[in-house]
Amino acid sequence: MENFKVTPWEVIGDVDYSKLIKEFGIQLIDKNLLRRIKKHTRVLHPYLTHGIFFAHRDMNWILDEYEKGNVFYLYTGRGPSGSVHLGHIMPWLFTKWLQDKFGVELFFQMTDDEKFYFKDDISLKKAQALARENALDVIAMGFDPKKTHIFSNTGIAKFMYNQAALIANRITFSMIKASFGLNESSNIGKIFYTSMQAVPAIMKSVITGNNVPCLIPHAVDQDPHFRIARDVLPKLNYYKPASIQCLFLPGLKQGGKMSASEGVGAIYTTDNIATIKKKINRAFTGGRGSAKEQREKGGNPEICSVFKYLFMLFEMDNKIISTIDEECRKGERLCGQCKIYLQEKIIHFLKKHQSQRERAKEIFDQYWVEEQNDVKLLFKK
Ligand code: TYM
Repeated sequence: MENFKVTPWEVIGDVDYSKLIKEFGIQLIDKNLLRRIKKHTRVLHPYLTHGIFFAHRDMNWILDEYEKGNVFYLYTGRGPSGSVHLGHIMPWLFTKWLQDKFGVELFFQMTDDEKFYFKDDISLKKAQALARENALDVIAMGFDPKKTHIFSNTGIAKFMYNQAALIANRITFSMIKASFGLNESSNIGKIFYTSMQAVPAIMKSVITGNNVPCLIPHAVDQDPHFRIARDVLPKLNYYKPASIQCLFLPGLKQGGKMSASEGVGAIYTTDNIATIKKKINRAFTGGRGSAKEQREKGGNPEICSVFKYLFMLFEMDNKIISTIDEECRKGERLCGQCKIYLQEKIIHFLKKHQSQRERAKEIFDQYWVEEQNDVKLLFKK
């Protein structure tokens, strides 16, 4: 019996990533692959050198095709169930870097239907409103408006359903049961849902009429959807989508991933300065019971959520990170100092993000794609 669990809907316990690699059948990003990526990007994103984007499927194939002139596009997404938190930002930061470095298009899916099917307390209307609200955070990341298309599943339902039907036709209930643990009492929207998340992996191929490679950056929790997509899409004569996958930013409490339902355990992009400070002050750390004991015995950065936030998001300078690590272990650095350092970093980041989020309201239409058909008009003679 594992003491952790990872599905697209819940992450429980302390994730053992090496076990997960075996269980999911994903590949570790190795030195050769890093070298190959660097050939095109000149520098490596710290997420690659820090091992935060740590696993992939078919990245070598993506680069083979790219080198032959068959350029890939990016696809990622968000399940709009509430406010966006710092964990969600991680794959988006990296996606932005990939878009800049490779100059490629991005298709961004807002799965309003998914959140309606999976969250009892979210109406379809609410999820639709959240999709537009969360899109502001995506736009705030600074993606190239000429190369970025954001859409929700119900917003372009006609396109989505036409493709999802072809995909659903090839997926059996037993495949879904095995991958997600759903059962006879699950609503049938949940059972159908993977076919919707698979569609953007062929979107550009459908639109252009040519087979276009697709690369999906995401945290490792979304892998089960794409494992099924990789099984099914070749049967419809499309490529298998490739992926590049990151670790979870943990909650500010102990273990798991930062989850929107955690409340005080998560930092939202809309939090104000007082809230950020309060949450960090209450965060779980690797510190000792008292300052005196910590000076004597040292702290433990390995289990410290404050250290993880620095390492994974806010301090990409390896030298500074090693100094913090060392000083903490020797008892030369106390938790208060790290908390203040992190608070300043988060406040700086979110101030900028929040002002870009405001500006996103003005340029929303440059990104958002929606079907124009009004159903009432369809039936008018
Ligand atoms: P969602 O909204 O749960 O998460 C959005 C993205 O953030 C990643 N993520 C995290 N990354 C690091 N640390 C965390 N604590 C953390 N929590 C979530 C997720 O892996 C995801 O990349 N069904 C999807 C929406 C979706 C999607 C996609 C995601 C549709 N198509 C394609 C990725 C790629 C969902 O509910 O994501």
